[in-house]
Amino acid sequence: MTNEKWGTNEIPSQKGKIVLITGATSGIGLEAAKVLSEKGARLILPMRNLEKGKNAVQEIKQRFPAAEVACLLMDISDFDSVREFAEKVKTEYTQLDLLLNNAGIMWPPQRFLSKQGHDMQFATNHLGHFLLTGLLLPLIKATPNSRVVTQSSVLHKKTQGQNFEPIIQFDDLSFSQNFDTKKAYAQSKLANLLFTYELDRRFKASHTQAIATASHPGYTATNLQKDAGFVMKIMNIVLAQKVNMGVLPILRAATAPDLKGAEFFGPTKMNELKGYPALVQSSETSYDPALAKKLWEVSEGLVSHKYEF
Ligand SMILES: NC(=O)c1ccc[n+]([C@@H]2O[C@H](COP(=O)([O-])OP(=O)(O)OC[C@H]3O[C@@H](n4cnc5c(N)ncnc54)[C@H](OP(=O)(O)O)[C@@H]3O)[C@@H](O)[C@H]2O)c1
Repeated sequence: MTNEKWGTNEIPSQKGKIVLITGATSGIGLEAAKVLSEKGARLILPMRNLEKGKNAVQEIKQRFPAAEVACLLMDISDFDSVREFAEKVKTEYTQLDLLLNNAGIMWPPQRFLSKQGHDMQFATNHLGHFLLTGLLLPLIKATPNSRVVTQSSVLHKKTQGQNFEPIIQFDDLSFSQNFDTKKAYAQSKLANLLFTYELDRRFKASHTQAIATASHPGYTATNLQKDAGFVMKIMNIVLAQKVNMGVLPILRAATAPDLKGAEFFGPTKMNELKGYPALVQSSETSYDPALAKKLWEVSEGLVSHKYEF
């Protein structure tokens, strides 16, 4: 755990493993898919756009021609689509070694709502993944040493350049009043961590062998910043790290062999914006078990699915 320059050569063989990655059409998810297929994993990649999916598969196969990839349709923000996808996965597979909850959107310029009427950042980044994990729980439970990894952000907490304390706005989770796109993103990324730590507690309480871990990629130049304005476009060139570095925290959280659950990995240089991945601390709020339990119960209600451990 003390390795200061953890890289992809540390990843053990993933042969025989089934790995599901959301958000693998671009950025960190696509890079993670390339690396894990090179290491021998079979991939399930849900995509909301099959044309983009085909391109992603092509890119993966360019890097690793023998890659085994199943590309299926799923819009993570739409609960009907998540249900349909999860049913297919449960019919076609009997194991799930790794679930990487990675798809996300950031800072849309206006408030817009998901098919079921939730703030789009909350639905995409948190609720859809909460439902997907719950629906796939039978497979996770049936697989020895299965792992669920959820991608958060340094913006789950008050940081330089984000001058507010992120909260879970239970009285208005979808920002029907006073929409603030940065607060909505921060809420969803705080939810990712509350979810991870609560999921891990519930795995342990139910003696499920699986663990839940989390990661954040610092500041990595990807399509995520497409709505973030001109200044960020420049910052993407001069400040952000490249995706081959930004992918390392999620890969470490997903594959490091000696984890116990509830670990959080991120880069360690420049206030966690760049660098090699190591264990990092998340905000005090993210470790609050009462808040996590409340969010869990509210989320179960919103997605109409009760987890069965
Ligand atoms: N890059 C960073 O600096 C940074 C920092 C902190 C956290 N993160 C987190 O890292 C994760 C990956 O982001 P990225 O930087 O790799 O950005 P990206 O290149 O924009 O990738 C986002 C992925 O999510 C998918 N996605 C978005 N909405 C979806 C939906 N409704 N249904 C299905 N897929 C959907 C996108 O698919 P389409 O191609 O169809 O849009 C794309 O594959 C996100 O959770 C993000 O919050 C990134």
